Amino acid sequence: MIIAVDGPAASGKGTIARALARHYKLPHLDTGLLYRAVGLTVIDKGGDPADAAAAIGACGFPDAMLDDPRLKGDAAGNAASVVSAIPAVREALLERQRRFAAQPGGAVLDGRDIGTVIAPEADAKLFVRATSAIRARRRHDELVKAGSTLSYDRVLADIKARDLRDSTRGAAPLRQANDAALLDTSYMSVETAIAHAIELVEAQRARSIPPA
Ligand code: C5P
Repeated sequence: MIIAVDGPAASGKGTIARALARHYKLPHLDTGLLYRAVGLTVIDKGGDPADAAAAIGACGFPDAMLDDPRLKGDAAGNAASVVSAIPAVREALLERQRRFAAQPGGAVLDGRDIGTVIAPEADAKLFVRATSAIRARRRHDELVKAGSTLSYDRVLADIKARDLRDSTRGAAPLRQANDAALLDTSYMSVETAIAHAIELVEAQRARSIPPA
C-alpha cells in the first residue's frame, strides 16, 4: 500500500506520516529532506539557492547528508523552498522518490506533491492542513526548545512566505489532490490527529478493494 501525505509546513504531516508508517509497518520517506539537502549543500558552498545551476549541481548530494541535523533548521527550510521551485531540481529528485514509493509492500511518503505528481496512483492520500497562526506557534515552540531565539512573528512571516512560494510556483505547486482526504489538525491533539488519519486511510482502502 502506498500512502501519500501532503500539506504545508508544520501542518503535522510529518508526525502523521511517521505514525502511519509505524501503524502499517511501512518504510517512510520525508521528501522535504531531499529539498533541504539540496538547499543546504548550496549554502555550504557559499552559493545562492535561487541560482538554478548551483541548485542543480547540488542534487547529487551524498546519502549521508540526509542525517545532517542542520537539515531541520530554518535556514535549510527556507533554502529548500527556493530550490524546490526550480523545475530541473524537482526532475532530478523525482526518480529517487518514485523508486521509494514503488518498493514491494509499499511505503509512506510525505511532502507537497506526493498525491499529485510522485505517486498519483497511491492507495490512500491525505492532505493535512492547519491555520498559519497555529503552524507558526508549533514551529516556534520546536525552535525555542532547540535553542533558537527567533521571534514568533518572524516564524509566522517565514511560514507565510513559504506557503506563498510553494503554492504559486509553476512546477508541482502545493495543492490538495482531487482524491485526497482533508485533515485539518488546527484544533486536534497529536493523538486525535493520528487516530483520524488512520480512519481516513482505512476508509480509502475499503473503497479501493473491490467487493468480493
Ligand atoms: O516539508 P519541509 O518543510 O521539510 O519542506 C521544505 C521545503 O521543500 C518546502 O517548503 C517545499 O518548498 C519543498 N518541498 C517540495 N516538495 C516536496 C517536499 C518539500 O517542494 N515533496
